[in-house]
Amino acid sequence: MTEYATLTLEGKTYQLPVITGTEGEKAIDISKLRQDTGYITMDIGFANTGSCKSDITFMDGEKGVLRYRGIPIEQLAEHSSFREVTYLLINGDLPTKKQLNRFSVLLNDQSLVHEDMQLFFQHYPRLSHPMGILSSMVTALKGFYPYLEDLEEEVNITVTRLISKIRTLAAMSYKISLGHKVVYPRPDLTYCENFLNMMFDSPVRPYKIEREVVKALSIFLILHADHEQNCSTSAVRVVGSGRVNLYAAISAGIAALWGRLHGGANQAVIEMLEGILKEGLTVEKVVEKAKDKNDPFRLMGFGHRVYKTYDPRAKIMKAMCDRLLAKLHIDDPLLDIANELEEIALSDDYFIEKNLYPNIDFYSGIVLRAIGIPTNMFTVMFAIGRLPGWISQWRESVDDPEWRISRPRQIYIGPTERNYLPVEERR
Ligand code: CMC
Repeated sequence: MTEYATLTLEGKTYQLPVITGTEGEKAIDISKLRQDTGYITMDIGFANTGSCKSDITFMDGEKGVLRYRGIPIEQLAEHSSFREVTYLLINGDLPTKKQLNRFSVLLNDQSLVHEDMQLFFQHYPRLSHPMGILSSMVTALKGFYPYLEDLEEEVNITVTRLISKIRTLAAMSYKISLGHKVVYPRPDLTYCENFLNMMFDSPVRPYKIEREVVKALSIFLILHADHEQNCSTSAVRVVGSGRVNLYAAISAGIAALWGRLHGGANQAVIEMLEGILKEGLTVEKVVEKAKDKNDPFRLMGFGHRVYKTYDPRAKIMKAMCDRLLAKLHIDDPLLDIANELEEIALSDDYFIEKNLYPNIDFYSGIVLRAIGIPTNMFTVMFAIGRLPGWISQWRESVDDPEWRISRPRQIYIGPTERNYLPVEERR
C-alpha cells in the first residue's frame, strides 16, 4: 500500500507518495510538485535530495555502514580482489571462477594503449596536474575506439577497455613525466601487480613485486570503488544524462574528483601533514586553526557529508597503513603527526559536536607514500579505484526506465525586467 506525506500550501492539501528503500530509508517523491503546485524545493548542495533509485551501494552514515551490492566493505577488503569487486559492482554479483577468468583475459586483452597516445603525454605542458592529463586522455580514448556502445557486447568491451587502460595510462604518464621509457603491461601479472610493475620497473632497478604491497594496493582500490551519489559519481550521472558517450562521462567524473574537498583531499592531507612537519607547527595549533571561523583552513581528511561517525573505510585504511608500514619497516613521521592530530581532534568539542571524524583520505596518502606513489598522483589512484563505481552507476542510469535528463531548477534573485541602454547613456 502506498504511503503518502501531506503538504499544505496556500490552504490547499497535496498528497506526496513516499518511497521506501530495501534498507528502510524513506523519501518523499516531489517529482510532480511543480506541475501540481507551482513550487519547487530548494536544497543547496543536494544534501537532502535523492537523484535516483540505485541497487549498487548502500551507506548508513549514522552507523558507519558501507556495502557494495549488499556485501559489507570489511568482508570485501579482507577476502576479495579489486578485479572481483569491479565485476561485482558492474554486473551485480560476485563472479563464478569461469566468469572471473574470462574477465581477467578480457582485462589483459585490453591492457595496451595505442602508441600514438604517448605523443599526447610528451606534448602535454610539463607542469600539468596528472588529474587534468588523465581526464583528457580518457576523452581521447573515444577517438581511438569510436565504435557503437549500445550493443551489450560493445558495452562490455568498452567497460573492460576503460578499466584496463586507465591503469596503463596512469603508469605511462608517470614514466613519461620522468623522461623514462614506458613499461608495457604483462599478461602474467594480476591487475595490481601489473600497475606496480608498469610504475616502478626500470632497466637499472628491476621492480620486485611484494605481496604486502600488492595486497595494500588492492585494498586501497576496493575501498574507493564506489560510494553512491558522491560529487564525482553525480557528475558522471549528470553528464551521462545528456547521453554523451561513456568516455566523456568518466572524464567529467575525473575532473570532479580532482577537487580538494573530494578526491583531491588525499593529496591535500599529505601536503597538510608535510606543512606541519616543515613549519614545526604543533598539532594543537593546527586544530585551533581548523576551528577558527575567520580562517579558511580546514582539517583535510576530516568530515563527510554522509558519515556522522567514523568512516568505515578509514578504519580499514588505518589498520592497513599500520600493517604495511610495519611489514616494510618504514618509519613515517607523517603517520605520527596524523595519529596525534586524530587523537586531539576526536577529543575536541568542536569536532565532537559537528560529528567530524577522519575520512578515507586521512590515512590513504600515507599508504600510497609507502607504496612509492608520488603525491601528485594520489588522486589518480582514487580515480582508478572509483572507475568501476562510475561505470556501474552510469550503466544503471542509462538502463533506468525512469531516466530523465538532469536539469535542476533555481530561484532567480537577479534584477527584474529592465531596458537595454545604449552605451552612451550608461554611467
Ligand atoms: N575541518 C574543520 N571544520 C570542518 C571540517 C573540517 N575538515 N569539515 C566540516 N567542518 C565544519 C564546517 O565548517 C561546518 O561548520 P559550521 O556548521 O559551523 O558552519 C560543519 O563542520 C559542517 O560542514 P559542511 O562543510 O557544512 O559539511 P559538508 O557536508 O558540506 O562538507 C566535506 C563535507 C567533506 C566537504 C567537509 O567536511 C570538508 O571540507 N572536509 C575536508 C576535506 C576532505 O577531507 N574531503 C574528503 C571527503 S572523503 C572523500 C570523498 O569521498 O570525497
